Amino acid sequence: MSQTPLVITNPQDMRQYSAAARAAGQRVGLVPTMGALHQGHLSLLEYTAQHSGRLVVSIFVNPLQFNQQSDLDNYPRTWERDLELCAGQGTHVVYAPGVGDMYPQGFQTTVSVAQMTQGLCGAYRPGHFDGVTTVVLKLFNAVMPHLAAFGDKDYQQLQVIKRMAADLDLGLEVVGRPTVRESDGLAMSSRNVRLSPAERQQALCLWRGLNRARSLTRAGETQTPALLEAARAEIAATPGTKIEYVEIVDSTTLEPLASLDGHRARMVMAVWVGGTRLIDNMALN
Ligand code: PAJ
Repeated sequence: MSQTPLVITNPQDMRQYSAAARAAGQRVGLVPTMGALHQGHLSLLEYTAQHSGRLVVSIFVNPLQFNQQSDLDNYPRTWERDLELCAGQGTHVVYAPGVGDMYPQGFQTTVSVAQMTQGLCGAYRPGHFDGVTTVVLKLFNAVMPHLAAFGDKDYQQLQVIKRMAADLDLGLEVVGRPTVRESDGLAMSSRNVRLSPAERQQALCLWRGLNRARSLTRAGETQTPALLEAARAEIAATPGTKIEYVEIVDSTTLEPLASLDGHRARMVMAVWVGGTRLIDNMALN
């Protein structure tokens, strides 16, 4: 069903809309995004539309979670197209606050999830997850959703948000959805547009590394060092790439694992392909 979404740009109006929807007995679903929507985002919209009566999509490029000004400045912005794509998925509201609406002068509060944000991406992106949890809590407070959907693609982010929702008694359901990939396996990402044709090919080493580790797991390998070595070798053999990290962690706590025995394990990685940082992950068992 295609309909032109209502565009709301400040937290007060958003709360008013959601309060009315809730009072009318509607289940409110939220998909938080930074825009530049692709099929990965749309899969979240589709799921959330199916599981709620009012679909709210937020589009806000959150300055608090960027480590480099240049990454923020160059972040793709495709507002007209995003609105059309939201319309095509039956979105009721696009919540698109301005930076001044979210962070007015004097703003100074941060929400921080302690341990789980220290490792993996958190070790290389200081303050990033505080920026994410702070903005996501603000989005939750404005939209007051019953359900919010996030992608497995940003696996640490998903687990951190689940932890925050449980720790702070947010009383909403945080759902993780599978990573949507290009036909050759590359995880869809708004940053993929930055890859040159050659880098686009090199970027497949993440997918190959993950698959290598999973096939070894299926063949009976349970020791982390062997699995890591196989995945790293796959990436290291690809010119133009640089590993930031490759790790195997418990899929809920994100603690590093020495062996897969007794755990649900996830391989997670961040790899630079030329000047673009890509992340990916996969369940091993
Ligand atoms: P953004 O990168 O726009 O992603 C929005 C949502 O789409 C996230 O939940 C992300 O995991 C999901 N997503 C991205 N690529 C995906 C793919 N290939 N398959 C499935 N889901 C995918 O993540 C953010 O924005 C921000 O950090 C945000 C949560 C909005 C807070 O600012």
